[in-house]
Amino acid sequence: MAQMPGMSMVPIKGTVRPAAVLTPFTDAMPRLADAVPTATTADADYYTINVQQSTAAIAPGALTSILSYGGGFIGPTIRATRNRRVVAKFTNSLTESVVVHLHGGHTPAASDGFPTDEIVAGGTKVNTYPNTQRAATLWYHDHLHMMEAPHVYQGLHGMYIIRDPWEDGLRLPSGRYDVPILLRDAYLNDDNSLLYDPFLDWTVVLANGKPRPYFPVAPRKYRFRFLNGSNHRAFSLTLSDGRPVVQIASDGGLLAAPVSTASIEISSAERAEVVIDFSGCAHGTQLFLQDATLGQVLRFDVTESCGADLSQVPAQLAASLPPLPAANRTRSIELSLTPDGNYFPINGQIFDPDRVDSRIALGSTEIWTITDVSGWEHNFHLHLVQFRILDVNGLAPDPTQRGWKDTVVIPKNGVVRIQASFTDYPGKYVYHCHLLEHASYTGMMATMVVA
Ligand code: C2O
Ligand code: CU
Repeated sequence: MAQMPGMSMVPIKGTVRPAAVLTPFTDAMPRLADAVPTATTADADYYTINVQQSTAAIAPGALTSILSYGGGFIGPTIRATRNRRVVAKFTNSLTESVVVHLHGGHTPAASDGFPTDEIVAGGTKVNTYPNTQRAATLWYHDHLHMMEAPHVYQGLHGMYIIRDPWEDGLRLPSGRYDVPILLRDAYLNDDNSLLYDPFLDWTVVLANGKPRPYFPVAPRKYRFRFLNGSNHRAFSLTLSDGRPVVQIASDGGLLAAPVSTASIEISSAERAEVVIDFSGCAHGTQLFLQDATLGQVLRFDVTESCGADLSQVPAQLAASLPPLPAANRTRSIELSLTPDGNYFPINGQIFDPDRVDSRIALGSTEIWTITDVSGWEHNFHLHLVQFRILDVNGLAPDPTQRGWKDTVVIPKNGVVRIQASFTDYPGKYVYHCHLLEHASYTGMMATMVVA
């Protein structure tokens, strides 16, 4: 992001050294650890997660200093069930404030993680997540005003998976054949320290916290839940043998039907769930997942064995995507660039957490027309709701983008229309560009009050 506006605001963390020279496919990709409840009641699971300094074995050799949820480079995966509450207590052992946001969650304002809703050093906050929404792959990450970019970069990210009986009944690949993968980029110095400097090109790609790992698989179907946890990089992922992948879900859960797609397109914060079938692969086959820019990301090694694969990908996935209610009002959102080149205002204003930018009537359905006039590609994330994309530059969205979404790419000089219903949870929330450097340093965030 060398020409990014607002660079005077960037707090560079660490000292630049030559980039680490890494041998690809040295380590296996770890499976993410699940969070363990401290208590479980009839309708809720309780967790305590400590926000702390820690170290992680990212590359061979020296450990890397990180910021962490619970000790690891990627926080423990919280596994929730629809209509069972998760009560997550976050304790802050850092010497600076943090904010915890559940990205994609339909969450009351008090637990959503507004950028000024700080957990101060030494403090504690209990967030309650109702999980009334459909099964989906969400994630939690830092959202501290003007600091989310370096915080997330240093490790304040973790996955959050909601299941529901409908999805369980579909017999999609499950258990050890359902694998969450957080992909992100980084700049690793040759002493394995993580450098936060968005002027540089971050070319180390990490899958579940390991650079270009391998992952042993059995000759059968797998469900992979990809999250792009990069600060600002978009991934365009393909398989090295050129075959299509079957996408089954987007940000907010299952698509209406599986979509065969040549590539998996995920900008910062987006999720794509795919099924890859290795059953036709001879023992010993190596298949690479590769990104259009960074090249090889992950190597699947077909070296395990398994019993009969009883999983399936049904032709219909979601019960149905409900028809969109008629909209009560429309709203225009313009993404621009200030003449001095320092800020990306939204509707002419840079972020002020105390100002109210959009007032939304509780119970209403709105169509937002989001237009880029800055001449840059952005994406757009709305808290509180899952929305539907109506069109992109006047055309129907790609089939992979027709399900529930919370983050959408806004093409350079493009126009995207989305529709969302604000059914419950009054309060103050944000919407913003999820290129985190834009959100943190260029004012590219705004507030909405639902009342
Ligand atoms: Cu992923 Cu406002 O955040
Ligand atoms: Cu942006």
